Amino acid sequence: MFLLPLLLVAVLPVSTEGGEIFWGTESKPHSRPYMAFLEIYDSKSQKFRCGGFLVREDIVMTAAHCNGRNITVTLGAHNIKKQKNTQHISVLEAIPHKSFNSKTLVNDIMLLKLKHKAKINGVVKTIDLPKSQDQVKPGQVCTVAGWGNLANCSLSDTLQEVDLEVQKSQTCQEMSKNFNDSIQICVGNPKEKKATAGGDSGGPFVCHNVTQGIVSYHYCTGKPPRVFTRISSFLPWIQQTMKLLQQP
Ligand SMILES: *[C@@H]1O[C@H](CO)[C@@H](O)[C@H](O)[C@H]1NC(C)=O
Ligand SMILES: *[C@@H]1O[C@H](CO)[C@@H](O)[C@H](O)[C@H]1NC(C)=O
Ligand SMILES: *[C@@H]1O[C@H](CO)[C@@H](O)[C@H](O)[C@H]1NC(C)=O
Ligand SMILES: *[C@@H]1O[C@H](CO)[C@@H](O)[C@H](O)[C@H]1NC(C)=O
Repeated sequence: MFLLPLLLVAVLPVSTEGGEIFWGTESKPHSRPYMAFLEIYDSKSQKFRCGGFLVREDIVMTAAHCNGRNITVTLGAHNIKKQKNTQHISVLEAIPHKSFNSKTLVNDIMLLKLKHKAKINGVVKTIDLPKSQDQVKPGQVCTVAGWGNLANCSLSDTLQEVDLEVQKSQTCQEMSKNFNDSIQICVGNPKEKKATAGGDSGGPFVCHNVTQGIVSYHYCTGKPPRVFTRISSFLPWIQQTMKLLQQP
């Protein structure tokens, strides 16, 4: 799996040319029942995709840069071309973080209120959010999953996943001074040649069944590290927004 969400090509000076190629492996079907496949139309009616994850039966979390004119969520999918047992639900309201900056991509987090509640079953489940004191530590290895580009630059039909190592903040600070360790996580060992990387934008970074990060962006070289949104820093905003989106 190769981390190159199409949207980022447009908003960041990223390039795949000369970039390294990173592989993931196909997930065991439905082993990550919180995964959401997002199909988004932007303001020019261009279609693109992102990942997301179910955090309440009526709420999907994703990256703010995955926002668009309309968004459809598919739950319960493995191969997105095979729609057996999947649930398609359109998004009633998208709430990106109010301080999201589309240039620097800080505060890259968004909540999507679904038109109706998802039916929780064997292939559709919510994932736990971190506690405020939870901190991922450098050296810790967690997993990202997504339907992003494969190494041959074609989008994957099946869910792929990859294990990535949390880096010291300096590793990302050396790449760009925009990196802010209190709200972002630096992920992916630059020395690991075999290091698989990736997942689609908006997908979860999962440590011990808890989602600690959201896939946000990569640097223009295409090599690791990646920058993920640190979910534990946004808990007050998440709780407040989820309350606001409570069904009447
Ligand atoms: C979203 O926008 C696209 C392109 O304009 C349109 O074809 C599609 O029907 C829209 N979907 C919804 C659910 O509104
Ligand atoms: C890209 O690789 C995938 C997985 O190996 C394969 O299924 C797909 O057909 C390839 N796409 C192209 C355009 O070569
Ligand atoms: C990092 O983010 C926090 C929280 O938004 C903010 O208070 C702090 O000023 C930021 N640090 C830098 C160096 O921008
Ligand atoms: C994660 O959840 C699955 C399914 O509930 C469980 O089998 C597994 O042991 C859990 N893993 C960890 C690390 O807690």
